[in-house]
This record gives sequence, C-alpha cells and structure tokens, in this order.
Amino acid sequence: MRTKIVAGNWKMNKTLEEGVLLVKEIKQLLVSSPFTQSAEKYNIIIAPPFIHLKAINDLLIDDPFISIAAQNCSSEEKGAYTGEVSAQMIKSTGAKYIIIGHSERRNYFNESNAMLAKKINLVLSNNLLPIYCCGERLEERNTNIYFDVVKKQINDGLFHLSSLEISKVIIAYEPVWAIGTGLNATPQQAQEMHKFIRKVVSDKFGEQIANSISILYGGSCNAKNAKELFANPDVDGGLIGGASLIASDFVKIIQSF
Ligand code: PGA
Repeated sequence: MRTKIVAGNWKMNKTLEEGVLLVKEIKQLLVSSPFTQSAEKYNIIIAPPFIHLKAINDLLIDDPFISIAAQNCSSEEKGAYTGEVSAQMIKSTGAKYIIIGHSERRNYFNESNAMLAKKINLVLSNNLLPIYCCGERLEERNTNIYFDVVKKQINDGLFHLSSLEISKVIIAYEPVWAIGTGLNATPQQAQEMHKFIRKVVSDKFGEQIANSISILYGGSCNAKNAKELFANPDVDGGLIGGASLIASDFVKIIQSF
C-alpha cells in the first residue's frame, strides 16, 4: 500500500513566531482527528523556511505523523557558496525531506534538470528523502506537449538513480498554471498525468517500484477540492501551498482521504 502524504509548502511566509503558532494549531486540530486512529499509513509534512526548521522540528519531535521538509537545498556539498544551505545542514536540523525542483525554483532561480539531479544525489546521500516536483507551463499544456515536458523532467532529474534510490523519491506533479492561481487541475487531468508519470517510472524501473512510489498533486489544492483530487487511484496526496498556511484548511485537506 502506498503512503498517503499531505505536505504543506509555506514558501517565503511566516515569521518564526507565526510558524510556531501555526504548527501548534495544526497539532491541536489533529489530536481529535479520526485519521490518527486509522491503520493506513499517512505522512504529514511541513516545509517551513530554512531558518525555522530546527525550532519547528523541536516542536514535533514526539509527533508520530508530522515531519519536516526543507523547500530547497544547494547543489553543492559545502564550501564558499554564500547564502546557500547544504543538504547536510538540513539533515542536522532533524528534517527528513527536501523539496527539489519546485517550479518557482526552476523559473525564478533558473534551476535546470541537470542541477536538480545533483541536488537529488545530495539529498539521498545525506539520508534524506526528496520530494521531486515536475509540471508543465500553461503554453505547454495548450500546445499539447505537456506529457513530453513532464517525461523529460522525470527522465533528466531521476533516471540516473538506482532502483533502491528511486524507491525513496516522492514525486509531486504541479502544473505551473495551477500554482497559486486558484485554478486547480481537474481530477481527470490530475489522474491522467499521475498515471502517465507512474508509467514513465515503471518503464524505467519496473512496475513494482512504480506502484510503491507516492505521487502528490499540487496547484491550488484546497479544503474544498482535495477530496475529489485524492479520490483518484494514482493521486496519493497533495503538495499544498496557500492552503497550508491556515491550520483548519490544512487539517481539512489531511482529512480528505
Ligand atoms: P498552491 O501552491 O497550493 O498555493 O497553488 C502549491 C505549490 O506551489 O506547491
């Protein structure tokens, strides 16, 4: 059975004080949530800004469901790269995951698939788990090349991995036109792409591995539409931006499985 995952990407939002408060609210709301009694495997992930990682991880140290992710890491191991944060440093905060290749990193910071492949290696070599993002832009959807675009992102970012390594990767499909726009992919569009991604992984690494990998949907996923998105057989959860900043919305999304 694949792990169901809801990950909240705070992006560049929340002061430390606000972030701590948000996590306390989420924890409080989850205490009484029915999913905590379920036998199914759920992971809740919160990705705050780097400088909050340690403080927020400390708040969650005994929490059986929630773990922490960084939103990015350097493509270099260590050294004279002013302002960068390495995978090893992230590991030392207690974080378990790193989001790699978010479209905002690809678009605003020119992160190429080749650079992302290097980052994936550093995440894995530090015993962290990557959440690898892929997804097409609006013009790529409109010109019907979206399958090719996503296939290339998966191919270039992940196909150098071994079978053991790929089985540690979480993939997030995030169509760029849906991120922060309020316009989510329809459940049919999400399922179609998730099924395609699983096939791409299966063709390279085999069906068993492809069937074990969690594929998350991201892009204007919220408390209202999460249920119908998560109901699809190949949608194993969500990577949530805006709606992860409000505790009650985030918890409603978690309860949408
Ligand atoms: P959104 O962002 O939910 O605000 O659309 C999703 C993401 O960027 O991961």
